[in-house]
Amino acid sequence: MNTVDQQTALEQAARKRIKDSHALDSDADRLSDFYRGWASSYDSDVSRDGYCGPMIVAELAGAVQTAYLSRQRAAIAVLDAGCGTGLVGVELERLGFRSIDGFDLSVEMAERARQTRVYRNVRGDVDLNGSLSDHSSASYDITVSCGVFTLGHVRPDALRELARVTRPNGFVIVSTRKSYAETASFEDEVRSLQNAGILIPAQRLNDGRYVAEEDAHYWVFKVPKKDSSPADERP
Ligand SMILES: C[S@@+](CC[C@H](N)C(=O)[O-])C[C@H]1O[C@@H](n2cnc3c(N)ncnc32)[C@H](O)[C@@H]1O
Repeated sequence: MNTVDQQTALEQAARKRIKDSHALDSDADRLSDFYRGWASSYDSDVSRDGYCGPMIVAELAGAVQTAYLSRQRAAIAVLDAGCGTGLVGVELERLGFRSIDGFDLSVEMAERARQTRVYRNVRGDVDLNGSLSDHSSASYDITVSCGVFTLGHVRPDALRELARVTRPNGFVIVSTRKSYAETASFEDEVRSLQNAGILIPAQRLNDGRYVAEEDAHYWVFKVPKKDSSPADERP
């Protein structure tokens, strides 16, 4: 096999792993098993597929901090929900964030994130499809989640817990692969959380670059103060 053939074979294998990851039905055991096997080659696979979600999500967090949060960036508490191997944390650190916590369902992915040394705390075995009972309410200024609200992974209603652990007037920033946003009725969930006064859509980048074969939407939500009705809030 020549070098070009080898490259093509590696790219095809990477695409297949990414595609296979979408068929796990949000089942915690299957997701954990799958990512246990993928942790060591995840970074090279997604880089081969042109994955730029982490950079975009981190840059949105930077823009939100500059525009709306008065404290210095280094003091802004950020939660990276579904941190994987730490690609988002590395981008956040590059932009000057220094108080970053991460969690992930997969213990092996979380261990890789820990090894980047850009996180304050990293925890594995945390399931976003359940309640984040070990996480106190209103702990974070910004919560980010990239590549997690995607096919076969986390359901849209997990946004509710992300909002709970984020402080009032803080922000939740997530990516949604386009096909996920459509098939999982993500917008319906957003509407219902907005009506319940839990989240307010503040900004959205439509059809942004994500991976080679598909774009994503990038959402910025504001967590409203509890005593204000949804209609009172201005993003
Ligand atoms: C495509 S990777 C994205 C990782 C990282 N955020 C990034 O952008 O590279 C998806 C991650 O979500 C994690 N994950 C999947 N289902 C989860 C769940 N129910 N709760 C928490 N994490 C989950 C996986 O273990 C994996 O690390």
